[in-house]
Amino acid sequence: MAPSAGGLPDEIRLALGETGAIGATVRQLATRVERGTRPVEEVLDALADRGEVLRIGRGLWVLRDYERLAGRDDFVDPAAYVERFERENGVALGHSSGPITFRSNEALPVHRWWPYVQGYSAEFVGGVLAAAGIGPGTTVLDPFAGSGTTLVEARRAGARALGTELLAPAVLAARVKTRLELDPVRLASEADRRVRAASRRDTGPLPFLRETRRQFSSSALRDLTRLRDALPAEGTAVADALRLAFGRILIPASRLHRSPCLGYDPRARADGPEPVERFRDAVATMVDDLRTVRRDPRPLGPPAVIRAQDARSAGWPERSVDLAVTSPPYVNGMDYVMNYKVDLAWLGYARSYADLRALRGAEVACDNLPRSETRAYLATDDPPDPWLAEILPRIRENVRRKGSYRRDDMHAVVHRYFADLAPVLREVRRALRPGGRFVVVVGDSLLAGAYVPGDLLLARLGAAAGFSIVSVEVARSRRSGQRRSFELRESVVTLERPRSSG
Ligand SMILES: C[S@@+](CC[C@H](N)C(=O)[O-])C[C@H]1O[C@@H](n2cnc3c(N)ncnc32)[C@H](O)[C@@H]1O
Repeated sequence: MAPSAGGLPDEIRLALGETGAIGATVRQLATRVERGTRPVEEVLDALADRGEVLRIGRGLWVLRDYERLAGRDDFVDPAAYVERFERENGVALGHSSGPITFRSNEALPVHRWWPYVQGYSAEFVGGVLAAAGIGPGTTVLDPFAGSGTTLVEARRAGARALGTELLAPAVLAARVKTRLELDPVRLASEADRRVRAASRRDTGPLPFLRETRRQFSSSALRDLTRLRDALPAEGTAVADALRLAFGRILIPASRLHRSPCLGYDPRARADGPEPVERFRDAVATMVDDLRTVRRDPRPLGPPAVIRAQDARSAGWPERSVDLAVTSPPYVNGMDYVMNYKVDLAWLGYARSYADLRALRGAEVACDNLPRSETRAYLATDDPPDPWLAEILPRIRENVRRKGSYRRDDMHAVVHRYFADLAPVLREVRRALRPGGRFVVVVGDSLLAGAYVPGDLLLARLGAAAGFSIVSVEVARSRRSGQRRSFELRESVVTLERPRSSG
């Protein structure tokens, strides 16, 4: 992570804020902020002296406000919102089962080509498609397509797959993963040719990221720059597949890891496989999987259409989609740009910090958003949902009272987040045929000591956009069993465009 203006204490507050009530160990924090454990310990001790952080057993540290929440008069807890949702929206919170996180994809052909921690499971998507009767002649949309889990499954079920996504490495992954007719023999021979060409090249220029030399050994930098410069330009199926294989090896070949945020492990030694070997392995996996997919007797759907475009203004034809399935960014969740800056830079999608900033400003709001991007959302009197008219001032007040929260416009970040989602809901509703469903996996959050029921709010925004709310089902608890900690959930929200809708 690029150091913020407030230096290490601010970075640690940010990292702890992201872990919420779950907390983090010194080692986790150190990798997260790309520093050694000693300076992190020193900062934690200083913050503890000032009463800003607490140790809560088993070596975990949390921001103090997470600890005090439950006892505060103004804290509205999750159960109160669930009850209110049932009363106001007529839907009781249910439960769904089955794996939902991306982890189970890591062993699956094609899905494993680009591990995207922020994705969801192919099994979950498969179940949703089957329940909706998706097959040849139908169309499936994913407005936040990510690495293409929905789109791969939709194509394999014989459907037309449509998606939008702003993060270029994810767009690349989704495009490559849906081009399942790619000839494995051509891919393998082109990979060999490029590896041979790379061995004859000189070391190439480093990407613009300041930390590059710290993140990679010098031999990895030499091999990666040569390989990168030997790759074909983006655009054909083979070229894109090779570029994805290259993108896939960057983090494993570095001293970084994703857990799920990008972290730096200063102790990691460069004694793993050489980048070229990793690249060959990545291509070999693709070749194997393409052969496996060819044995699937089901006819594939038409070629997928994946637009590198903002989901808010996709402009899909009206009433053309049978089912939409997605998982949007979560409130205050992932800063995708920060987490994929290495991929963005090495693959040439971002050429400067200004490019990264611009992309962050275009994505659904996360809490690393530049202040200039939240200015229009500072007022709390006209939010997209009446519940937010209570929640936003509460966040603002908590931040003011605390005095040291890492950004004093946190309420505006949350405001913008929901203001960003509302047009996506309208856009998807427009694109769906009457009776078509929009299935959304989304979580709730705890921010600056205020509870934000992201799933229920999304369902309510859906209702405001003209959907009927079919169900909200808890799919998993995002943290379990830790004493005095706060239980967050991840839910499946199902909305339907009413059959009688105009
Ligand atoms: C939770 S991830 C989706 C993961 C996907 N379900 C998968 O399995 O790979 C959310 C995605 O939304 C993308 N995103 C954020 N804002 C966007 C916007 N305004 N338009 C399109 N995509 C956006 C992010 O880049 C991120 O990849």
